[in-house]
Amino acid sequence: DVPAAPGDKRVLLAAPRGYCAGVDRAVVTVEKALELYGPPIYVRKEIVHNKHVVRTLEKRGAIFVQETDEVPEGARVIFSAHGVSPAVHAEARALSLQTIDATCPLVTKVHREAVRFAGEGSTILLIGHTGHEEVEGTAGEAPDSTIVVESPEHAAVVEVPDPERLVWLSQTTLSVDETMQTVAVLRDRFPHLQDPPSDDICYATQNRQVAVKQMAEQCDLMIVVGSQNSSNSKRLVEVALEYGTRDGHLVDYADEIDESWLEGVTTVGVTSGASVPEVLVRDVLDWLAERGYGDVRAVTAAQESLLFALPNELRRDLKAAG
Ligand code: F3S
Repeated sequence: DVPAAPGDKRVLLAAPRGYCAGVDRAVVTVEKALELYGPPIYVRKEIVHNKHVVRTLEKRGAIFVQETDEVPEGARVIFSAHGVSPAVHAEARALSLQTIDATCPLVTKVHREAVRFAGEGSTILLIGHTGHEEVEGTAGEAPDSTIVVESPEHAAVVEVPDPERLVWLSQTTLSVDETMQTVAVLRDRFPHLQDPPSDDICYATQNRQVAVKQMAEQCDLMIVVGSQNSSNSKRLVEVALEYGTRDGHLVDYADEIDESWLEGVTTVGVTSGASVPEVLVRDVLDWLAERGYGDVRAVTAAQESLLFALPNELRRDLKAAG
């Protein structure tokens, strides 16, 4: 806790923030594929949920499509960090697409759990947001054995075929606290509910939330850099407000900050979602410094050093190209 003198404007900057290992790997995958094979490279869905990243890669020759059947037969396509269902792999095979799978390994881990538990005859209660790409991908591993549970309220009414054979899994980018509430409601109703073998909410999501929790009470305003469709970024605003920040906003770019948010504000918290390049945070810090918030102090909740190897298909071709 770093107390501010009255009237002293300052910024608390969360660490860790920004890129996680899965996003870094997915973005580098598209960059390297563009360099190695040349444009166009098709990408199914946004490679990561960040407007700036998508625009930058588009300029370099990536073509983002919503569905596999928008990719010309035989072309090269990258699957996004959020993962895809087996049905999408089958569609790609039918079109003879050359696929590079940039699914985050921590999402793949949840897919494997889904396959295993469904294979054992369990029903999977998948805690997550209906319609989110990651949930579509994970549920697609075992569509007949998966029920998506949206919230604690939904957990209170969801019906299951066999309460004795149940496991819960989750999307990787949820609020840790809300997920635990959902699990508590489920366990109350279904005492035989099995836990996942290890945390499905990933380290990056957890660490970014812990950092925000540590500084939330001291902040009058929390600015989270991230896109509206980024689940983990949105959760950071919610966590800040739950843990005592008076006001919080999600912005893609510094120029979306409204000067009126600063009225009466001494301490501004700044963080960014796992899909956000650091340059966008720097722009926000510059914008704040120009308005008297130049005193920036780091609040460090954890050190991160995880790195993932690039997808096998790409590594093989990069090696062959020398
Ligand atoms: Fe992977 Fe978590 Fe990032 S699941 S893509 S490490 S937010």
